[in-house]
Amino acid sequence: MRHCLITGGSSGIGFALARLLLAQGNNVSLVARDWQKLQAAKHNLALQADDAQRIHIASADVADEASLRDAFTACEEAFGPVETVIASAGIVTPQLFAEQDAAQFNRQVAVNLIGVANTVRLALPAMRAARGGCVLIIASGAALVSIPGYSAYCASKAALRSFATSLRLENKGDGIEVCSCFPPDTVTPQLMEELNLRPVEARRFIGQHEPWSADLVAKRILSGMTKGRSEIHFGLVLSVLAFCEPILRPLVHFAYFRRAPKKARDS
Ligand SMILES: NC(=O)c1ccc[n+]([C@@H]2O[C@H](COP(=O)([O-])OP(=O)(O)OC[C@H]3O[C@@H](n4cnc5c(N)ncnc54)[C@H](OP(=O)(O)O)[C@@H]3O)[C@@H](O)[C@H]2O)c1
Repeated sequence: MRHCLITGGSSGIGFALARLLLAQGNNVSLVARDWQKLQAAKHNLALQADDAQRIHIASADVADEASLRDAFTACEEAFGPVETVIASAGIVTPQLFAEQDAAQFNRQVAVNLIGVANTVRLALPAMRAARGGCVLIIASGAALVSIPGYSAYCASKAALRSFATSLRLENKGDGIEVCSCFPPDTVTPQLMEELNLRPVEARRFIGQHEPWSADLVAKRILSGMTKGRSEIHFGLVLSVLAFCEPILRPLVHFAYFRRAPKKARDS
């Protein structure tokens, strides 16, 4: 039985991971901002697992290191040191860079990148002391290809790939596994909100795809972690992009410019 702490565990992919980890017999801590959503998530998980004792909830904003530290302390008091940390909390506000105000841009970077760094920083000391542990970072397929209307999101998620690689190199000797994953569009509350804001340029670029279910994404992630994968990719297109990115990325962008009218917004 391990202590698994999941930021963003009250919803979407984080919630689906919590359900699977509970079913495997682990203790699970959920960290997110909204207390009512956390309580509802705990209630739902407890019904499914038939056990509320193995679920702890704590409210914090991952971008605020002090509040996150308090949440970690509370979770560790409940279940002991964190052995698996999953950084799933993330936000997206799609908008063309020229139209997005600085606060919205900066907030995405603060939550998606700094929030993950804050999370890992709090989990690492205990893992290093125990000479073992697992760090899972939820990035996005948007880390692999730059999408118009997603400058802050793509930049913050692409940075996570690099961050995870540095972490892996730094911590391998201490028996700490670092894994990053790059989900495609997945049916979650975040996607439902995001689709309403997705600019026409982004819709043209991304095209029509059937989104994955959060359960399927979570299953793929846990199976990849069990196999010791350092990166987990989803579907043929994103997997090929991940490995052949330097060649394929310019081709994807060339195809976009061929298809898109010069002033996509005017059309
Ligand atoms: N859905 C997709 O299509 C998709 C695709 C690729 C990658 N992803 C990534 O997967 C991760 C999970 O996304 P999701 O789709 O599952 O989203 P979701 O259903 O909206 O869940 C997001 C979770 O993060 C929490 N959260 C958001 N901001 C936070 C903050 N500042 N501090 C602490 N917790 C915070 C939310 O709770 P509170 O609001 O209560 O804080 C919620 O629990 C994100 O990193 C996202 O970028 C999603």
